[in-house]
Amino acid sequence: MLQISPSILSADFANLESELSRISGADWAHVDVMDGHFVPNLTLGLPVVEALRRVSPIPLDCHLMIEDPDRWAPQYAEAGGSSVTFHIEAAQDPVATARSIRAAGARAAFALKPGTPFAPYADLLPEVDMVLVMTVEPGFGGQSFMADQMPKVTQVREAVRRHGGQVWIQVDGGVSEETIGRCVEAGADVFVAGSAVFGADDAGQQVQVLRDLAGR
Ligand code: DX5
Ligand code: ZN
Repeated sequence: MLQISPSILSADFANLESELSRISGADWAHVDVMDGHFVPNLTLGLPVVEALRRVSPIPLDCHLMIEDPDRWAPQYAEAGGSSVTFHIEAAQDPVATARSIRAAGARAAFALKPGTPFAPYADLLPEVDMVLVMTVEPGFGGQSFMADQMPKVTQVREAVRRHGGQVWIQVDGGVSEETIGRCVEAGADVFVAGSAVFGADDAGQQVQVLRDLAGR
């Protein structure tokens, strides 16, 4: 099933409860956690995730762009992330981290920056529920889609097929009406869109537009 996960990074941070209500027709609310170290930007942390959980009409998809995810990722699951994604570049022990996320009751995922290959991590597929292929350098919303990441999406899709499991493939960065079709063709099935959704006058309708385009 194709799923849409609007990124609240492009929402109005002074009104997150009402911003979440604009995307109640989406499958997930994508929450970008940045620590100012792993990426050169700082957003929000555990207390805000806990608060969002209390008011969100849809499950939270937490994308951790932080150092030491081994220590922090399980806490994001306990705080209310129904899916918790950590960056493979930052993890010391990805197997243990993924297992502790799952033990806390959430779906576990690892993310790959554009310069990070998938092949060295293919053996991790049984440990996770999703792989995130970044289609921009992590850190900021509103950047241009990197079409050169599509072969990596296809590579992950083929590995998932061989592995035989139910691992989702998420793309994040520059996903819009113009680019979502290429992501579908490459094999992605979960689509993060920040500026494309929250920049629209009617965010709810834009979720539906993306969903229709993905389903085509
Ligand atoms: C970037 C974040 C993305 C970002 C996407 O580091 O991980 O989730 O919000 O924003 P758009 O869709 O505007 O590229
Ligand atoms: Zn993200």
